[in-house]
Amino acid sequence: MRFQNKTVIVTGGSLGIGRAAAAAFAREGAAVALVSRDLANGADAQREIDALGPGEVRFIATDLAREADIQRMVEDVQQWGRIDVLVNNAGVYMQGDVTMTALADWEQLMAVNVTGAFLCTKYVVPIMQAQGGGAIVNVSSEAGLVGIKNQVAYNVSKTALIALTQSCALDHAAQGIRVNCVCPGTTYTPLVEAALGRASDPTAERRRLESVRPLDRLGTSDEIAAAILYMASDEAGYTTGAVLSVDGGYTAQ
Ligand SMILES: NC(=O)c1ccc[n+]([C@@H]2O[C@H](COP(=O)([O-])OP(=O)(O)OC[C@H]3O[C@@H](n4cnc5c(N)ncnc54)[C@H](OP(=O)(O)O)[C@@H]3O)[C@@H](O)[C@H]2O)c1
Repeated sequence: MRFQNKTVIVTGGSLGIGRAAAAAFAREGAAVALVSRDLANGADAQREIDALGPGEVRFIATDLAREADIQRMVEDVQQWGRIDVLVNNAGVYMQGDVTMTALADWEQLMAVNVTGAFLCTKYVVPIMQAQGGGAIVNVSSEAGLVGIKNQVAYNVSKTALIALTQSCALDHAAQGIRVNCVCPGTTYTPLVEAALGRASDPTAERRRLESVRPLDRLGTSDEIAAAILYMASDEAGYTTGAVLSVDGGYTAQ
């Protein structure tokens, strides 16, 4: 088991990619802090993943748009003894070009996707420094690597996460902290289900999203989770500042 006796924080761990990652870390023996807002989803994820074991999972209700919540969450997890892995996975999505994007909506998206990841990193890094190292994995997107139409705020937020990854990798390499990034392509999760639900023809839109990628299908949460676990594991011990595309070949075109 790759994560036995390790403590892992997964933000956005109640649904989709984060839930799959939390379950995979628990299968590998980790103690997992599952961080998100909705109490029912969080409790459900904790119950389901904890029952499978062998690792333990605890849901910590946290709004990543609030610094005080993040500070409290990190202090809480620190009581477990160590923080070995931080996965900055939580994210929100929004459509619109610059003319359609209201400042308040832009700021709200940035608060979660960028500032939330910055603050989690800010409060976890000193703990990792004191214990002699750790691993941070940021979940960006194919939209962080290439422009995608009509989602300007989301694209900017995901490019910022790549810059956060590279900057922190350089700043903290000497302290044994590796910082890497996974860029998923479209993956069937509640986030994508909701976006498809807003399309005039959801089936045609799904087919379009599949057909623009060489592997001609959407990804699964388990496939993205596997990449997150690799980046967090000792197998990736010589990897820092890296950006791993898991997108069915989309950005290779
Ligand atoms: N699915 C894709 O196609 C895809 C592709 C590329 C990248 N990504 C990225 O992968 C990550 C996960 O995506 P997903 O599809 O699994 O999303 P999802 O199904 O919508 O799940 C998002 C998770 O983030 C949490 N979250 C949202 N806002 C939060 C906040 N303010 N504070 C704390 N938690 C918050 C949600 O819980 P609560 O709402 O209860 O807080 C939920 O657990 C995101 O960063 C996304 O941008 C996804």
